[in-house]
Amino acid sequence: MKKCEESIPLLHFSLFFIFLFCPLVFSELPSNQRTTMIGLSNLLNKTDLSWNISKDPCSWKGVTCSSGNYSITEISLSGFSLSSSDFLSSLCRIDSLMSIDVSNNALTLIPEDFIKGCGEIGGLERLNISRNRLVGPLPTFQGFVGLKFLDLSFNSLNGNISLQLDGLIALKSLNLSGNKFNGLIPTNLGKAMVLEQLELSVNGFEGGIPDQIMGYQNLTLIDFGENKLSGPVPDRIKDLSKLEVLILSSNKFSGQIPAAISNIRTLSRFAANQNNFKGTVPSGITRFLKNLDLSYNKLSESIPSDMLSPSNLQSVDLSYNLLKGSIPSNISPSLVRLRLGSNSLDGPIPSSVFGKLQKLMYLELDNNSLTGLIPPDLGSCLSLALLNLAGNNLNGTLPGQLGNLSRLQVMKLQSNVLVGEIPVEIAQLQTLSTLNISWNLLNGSIPSSISSLRYLTNMNLQGNHLSGSIPNDISGLDSLLELQLGGNQLTGKIPRMPASLQIALNLSSNHLVGPIPFTFSLLTGLEVLDLSNNQLTGEIPTFLTEIRSLTRLVLSNNQLSGIIPEFGSWLTLDVKGNDHLINATTSNTSPKSAKKGKSVTTALLIGFAAALFTVGVVTGLAMSISRRYYRVNDEQPQSAEDLPPPSPPQVIQGNLLTANGIHRSNIDFTKAMEAVAYSKNITLKTRFSTYYKAIMPSGSSYFVKRINWSDKIFQFGSHDKFWRELEVLGKLSNSNVMTPLAYVLSVDNAYLFYEFSPKGTLFDVLHGSLENALDWASRYSIAVGVAQGLSFLQGCTPGPILLLDLSSRNIMLKSLKEPQIGDIELCKVIDPSKSTGSLSMVAGSVGYIPPEYAYTMRVTVAGNVYSFGVILLELLTGKPAVSEGTELAKWALSNSVRQEKWDHIFDPNISRTSIAIRSQMLQVLKVALGCVNVSPEARPNMKNVLRMLLNAR
Ligand SMILES: *[C@@H]1O[C@H](CO)[C@@H](O)[C@H](O)[C@H]1NC(C)=O
Ligand SMILES: *[C@@H]1O[C@H](CO)[C@@H](O)[C@H](O)[C@H]1NC(C)=O
Ligand SMILES: *[C@@H]1O[C@H](CO)[C@@H](O)[C@H](O)[C@H]1NC(C)=O
Ligand SMILES: *[C@@H]1O[C@H](CO)[C@@H](O)[C@H](O)[C@H]1NC(C)=O
Ligand SMILES: *[C@@H]1O[C@H](CO)[C@@H](O)[C@H](O)[C@H]1NC(C)=O
Repeated sequence: MKKCEESIPLLHFSLFFIFLFCPLVFSELPSNQRTTMIGLSNLLNKTDLSWNISKDPCSWKGVTCSSGNYSITEISLSGFSLSSSDFLSSLCRIDSLMSIDVSNNALTLIPEDFIKGCGEIGGLERLNISRNRLVGPLPTFQGFVGLKFLDLSFNSLNGNISLQLDGLIALKSLNLSGNKFNGLIPTNLGKAMVLEQLELSVNGFEGGIPDQIMGYQNLTLIDFGENKLSGPVPDRIKDLSKLEVLILSSNKFSGQIPAAISNIRTLSRFAANQNNFKGTVPSGITRFLKNLDLSYNKLSESIPSDMLSPSNLQSVDLSYNLLKGSIPSNISPSLVRLRLGSNSLDGPIPSSVFGKLQKLMYLELDNNSLTGLIPPDLGSCLSLALLNLAGNNLNGTLPGQLGNLSRLQVMKLQSNVLVGEIPVEIAQLQTLSTLNISWNLLNGSIPSSISSLRYLTNMNLQGNHLSGSIPNDISGLDSLLELQLGGNQLTGKIPRMPASLQIALNLSSNHLVGPIPFTFSLLTGLEVLDLSNNQLTGEIPTFLTEIRSLTRLVLSNNQLSGIIPEFGSWLTLDVKGNDHLINATTSNTSPKSAKKGKSVTTALLIGFAAALFTVGVVTGLAMSISRRYYRVNDEQPQSAEDLPPPSPPQVIQGNLLTANGIHRSNIDFTKAMEAVAYSKNITLKTRFSTYYKAIMPSGSSYFVKRINWSDKIFQFGSHDKFWRELEVLGKLSNSNVMTPLAYVLSVDNAYLFYEFSPKGTLFDVLHGSLENALDWASRYSIAVGVAQGLSFLQGCTPGPILLLDLSSRNIMLKSLKEPQIGDIELCKVIDPSKSTGSLSMVAGSVGYIPPEYAYTMRVTVAGNVYSFGVILLELLTGKPAVSEGTELAKWALSNSVRQEKWDHIFDPNISRTSIAIRSQMLQVLKVALGCVNVSPEARPNMKNVLRMLLNAR
């Protein structure tokens, strides 16, 4: 049974009553511990723990006993949605406890009794209350003389830290990351000074690194990342002679990188990225390191020649600095990752070193001023998965040896001055997913063997001198999402394209001829199609109007003729420079088409007048009279589309799920099935479902959503199982989640009933004909509402409800301020293993899919946070998730590197209205950028996202 957090009332219990009725046959556990545990099991009865009190507590889930079962040593109640802290104090009666873990719950406070009671358990070594909802200041820990591990990370604790932890004389590991602490870095961390691990990241700590920290000589790990710390890093840091990890990322530290770091023999990881460090990279800094990240600072001058050579070195990131000079040629064979992008490095890429670099997986040297050839021996770097040399001045040809890189997934060589042909060896890169060699001087034709790249998702060859025709077998690239071939000299007709295309198909500015092929009707997921500046002829096919995903269609400067079909209002159409195109009749459905409509009416009137003239006035009159007589008949559905009257689907089973009496009396299955028989009742199609509007006999409207029972990717299993899943979902109650009210099963479809949302989807309101209808107050309220719905879904027990396809097309608006998340059942009923193998086919819409899905092939909580971040960006920028082939998230991330640019990101119509609004938007943007972080671990959880959004108010 699935329940969602909010309130889990705890039963009051009568200890002895229960006790008497439990035969105690086996346990050797002392009776006081048994009693305590039975009491606890009653306090927690309403949760998902399901402890069986007629069994030995040592066998209960989360309970660990000493060998021989003489006493309980560990209690772990992680992830049970516990929201009341009442039970905590009763744990303290078990004086043999060594470890208490109540992480991943919804606790809001640590009761005083708990501190007092458990403080007396001398053997208690570990206390874990991380990932709860604790608020207020850090409590003062008294007693706890044996406590070694204290984890309070990811709560909402605030205030300064002074002496609250000083009594913890055994403390070895302290984790306070992800709270709202402020003030100076605490220095009283256990009088005995035995601390080994100190994690304070993601808080609001200010000031410098205090000298007293260097007194904790046993420290092996310091994580101060993501605070507001400033000033230089003291040289005395070298006194921490056992330090293994030092993280200072995302603060305001300044001054030089302390050369003294290189004296710490134990230090293996140093991260000081995203600060204001200046000056040179000290020589010898990598002497003992495995991992160094100094990216996003202002480091200048050249890279020390010994920097990359130490034999333990695994990863170096110096990207986004101001480094000059050439790349050192002495590179350690142990190196796995080298990132030197976005500096001012020049000179050649060192050659004859890559043969030795058998571990190198990531090589990024992009956006520098490197010259010379791409070294052919790069082809011997057999572990290479990512090669990015884009944005340099590299010349010469593309070496065929690169075809040996059998593990390469991403090849980016765009914006260089490479010449010659695309080597046929490229077809050997069997794991390649991204190929970008655009904006070079490549010539010759596109090798047809390229179609053997089964995993290729993005191919960009635009802006070269490629000639010949597009290979016919290009349709074999059945993972391809984006194809950019614009700005070349390609000739011939357009062949069939891969049906998997989604992001963009760009064939513009070539010499292509012939008609827009009929096979384009298969591109049902395509968002942008650009065929401009070619010599295409024939009509604009009407099937293009049925590609519902299409948002931009560019056909300008061709020789197309005939009538322009009528496109949905969400589509931007460019047809200029086609002299023989005629505008079609349009109704006044949207402001955009209204203008078109007018000139067309004129054209039709002229045509009609001519017809009257030839056929004769009398016939004309007779026609109009007869039409008037038969008007009654015309009222029947006579259009070809609806004849003969469709028969409604046959109901196999129908059930009400809602307990709400109004819905129960309104919903009429027969009426609903009549409504779904008519396509005119379709109000929305999403990737997996079709929404119909059904008006019930009572006059109220409902959404009836059809999912195709017979589609092989759905796994309904038995009708019974489906019903059980739906019953669970039907019990969810949150005003921002669309919960099913009822369902009907027919032979080949399942129909779910929902409350009607008169405003349509967020996508339509934001990017459709209603553009600019949403002011900031509405957008903010939508952001908060969706966040509330998502954190509700993610807080469900026994596990979070994940969304397979979270996008602005799946957010319905009850009003311009009340969003509802739709399609929540998809994760339950879709079986990705039955899809065509590409996760993007099932896991969401392009633009909302987090980058890691490409590797993990698994829908995750953090993945949903990413998709939500994209929705926030849509609200902030007014732009769709993908425009002109660029993903909004990537665009926003790259434009947000320097904060002064943030203003350019916003929808100008909104951000210019007031300073207060602008500052609120800035805060929401910070949240959005956090959500779309490329690293899933770095994304905030929904609870924190919601909190941050509410704080932005
Ligand atoms: C736990 O609660 C359920 C009802 O919520 C009740 O039926 C059951 O008897 C309770 N168990 C105990 C051991 O109190
Ligand atoms: C609890 O354990 C007893 C004894 O092993 C068993 O008979 C009973 O079915 C169990 N109850 C539940 C609800 O699993
Ligand atoms: C301790 O209790 C558990 C669970 O009842 C049992 O599996 C285990 O054999 C017991 N160990 C000893 C040493 O009695
Ligand atoms: C506390 O629990 C969290 C999550 O359950 C876990 O990741 C973390 O390692 C634990 N901390 C300690 C100190 O055991
Ligand atoms: C078609 O309509 C557009 C405006 O929607 C107008 O600019 C264009 O001139 C019209 N073309 C013709 C052939 O009437």
